[in-house]
Amino acid sequence: MSTPAPPEPMWLRVASIDEIATGIFRYDLRRPDGGGLPPFTAGAHVTVWLPNGGTRCFSLANNPLERDRYEIAVKREDPGRGGSKSLVDGVRRGDALPVSAPDNWFALAPDVSEFLFVAGGIGITPIMAMMRHLNSTSAARYKLYYLTRSPSLTPFIAELQAPEFEGKVLLHHDHGDLDRAFDLWPLFERPTATHVYCCGPQSLMDAVRDMTGHWPTSAIHFESFTNALAAPRVDDTPFAVRLAKSGDVVTVPAGTSIIEALRAHGCRVPSSCESGTCGTCRTGLLAGEADHRDLVLTDEERAHNIMVCVSRARSAELVLDL
Ligand code: FES
Repeated sequence: MSTPAPPEPMWLRVASIDEIATGIFRYDLRRPDGGGLPPFTAGAHVTVWLPNGGTRCFSLANNPLERDRYEIAVKREDPGRGGSKSLVDGVRRGDALPVSAPDNWFALAPDVSEFLFVAGGIGITPIMAMMRHLNSTSAARYKLYYLTRSPSLTPFIAELQAPEFEGKVLLHHDHGDLDRAFDLWPLFERPTATHVYCCGPQSLMDAVRDMTGHWPTSAIHFESFTNALAAPRVDDTPFAVRLAKSGDVVTVPAGTSIIEALRAHGCRVPSSCESGTCGTCRTGLLAGEADHRDLVLTDEERAHNIMVCVSRARSAELVLDL
């Protein structure tokens, strides 16, 4: 299979930045000339090129009927690859930011009359777009169960308490106390015609996945830009990648991904999620034994492909079709 074409960035102006919960910032992105942006559907995301040289996907939270702006929300986090920290610390109001056209891996199913949304923390962003879309264009019914630690850590809390969401939103704060965790089981005990959309921490999505094992799989939808397999490990070791077309050999240190090492070497591979979940950085693997850490490739595909944003090597060298 050929490598997908890289997304084409647009340079958008950061029209405003607001802290909408502790450590969580809303960015309003617009074309510098105020013109229309590529359309999107509820549940879509964009890829943002970050000041640290990486990229990251962010869900769009605004109503898709708004054609002149994209709204994203970013939680400043230190762990991981530092993408959100780079954006929050390095981008100011008025800056120009490279942003891809929207893509959607989490779209609302058509012809569905009832939706159940389960969100945790910053996972509310695509669901905000869904609810805003449904409020303005659809007779479909929905209910949101939004689970956060406390009101101050609840982005969009003011909007969710507005009249347009009355009776459609249940906010629950556990204050970090497991004994106060919301019991989701009554929602899923008996399968219905409802479609379930869940976005939030991995633990929340795992819980919903476990509780909906007896539901039709086509009715259960998850959005995740995270991949627990991709986290750096203490026993990660350096290895080499040989680029078959140029013969160059690039060292990949522990704590650095293949794609980061390639980037530092001046070799650009298209990427989007950089978490092993989207498939954009698929690269041909010609020799060597890979340590696959993506959530994309099938066992069959892994024999000849590698997702270079997260996977590493079990052998001293990998030969890539680059
Ligand atoms: S960039 Fe998404 S899987 Fe690698």
